[in-house]
Amino acid sequence: MSALYPIVTDRLILRRLLLDDFEALHAFLSLPEVAQYQFWEPMDRDKVAEKLADWMTLDGEEGRHLELGVVLKSSGRLIGDVFLGFRDLEARQGEIGFSLHPDVQRQGYGFEAVGALIDLGFEHYALHRIFGRCDARNPASYKLMEKLGMRREAHFREHALFKGGWDEEYYYAILEHEWRAKNGPAS
Ligand SMILES: CC(C)(COP(=O)(O)OP(=O)(O)OC[C@H]1O[C@@H](n2cnc3c(N)ncnc32)[C@H](O)[C@@H]1OP(=O)(O)O)[C@@H](O)C(=O)NCCC(=O)NCCS
Repeated sequence: MSALYPIVTDRLILRRLLLDDFEALHAFLSLPEVAQYQFWEPMDRDKVAEKLADWMTLDGEEGRHLELGVVLKSSGRLIGDVFLGFRDLEARQGEIGFSLHPDVQRQGYGFEAVGALIDLGFEHYALHRIFGRCDARNPASYKLMEKLGMRREAHFREHALFKGGWDEEYYYAILEHEWRAKNGPAS
């Protein structure tokens, strides 16, 4: 199954993470603005090393989640990471997550990388539904999901504590046939 990777899009390469990715990962996982609306705090070097060791094992095989690095084709720079989690194997439910370095945001890379990830989820992993959760105060995240054609399914208000206060959470999702209707049949 690892022969699937890398996944190549117009401007990006999505590939399994390597030990050599440590510095590039630390460059954005350590930033408060990247961690602000995620379930984790800015990561120090030890935390990034721990995460990288874990993520390198997440290869999408045998129900394990999938974690991929996002690399710029033009320079080979690792600019972000994307995640596909398998939440209910029988009902084929998947969850996506994504982070990019701030200095490459708003250039359509999120759309390109997450679009390829969703395609992979429906195409290769035969998922039925893919969802993403985000903070209602994080338009970069929910507008990205809207641009990808995902529907807002839920708006939870103060249903959990998040970083010392009440949370405000959106759920977005798309079904396999909705994705196909928007993007055409599998190639
Ligand atoms: C969320 C994230 C991956 C988006 O990636 P990106 O490459 O900047 O997104 P894109 O350039 O593909 O933008 C897609 C759409 O999202 C919207 N968008 C992106 N950034 C935005 C921002 N800062 N504010 C408002 N809307 C934004 C735009 O509508 C855009 O479409 P448009 O350019 O046609 O108008 C990126 O902002 C990020 O890594 N943020 C920090 C980590 C994070 O919060 N991850 C999500 C946790 S749930």
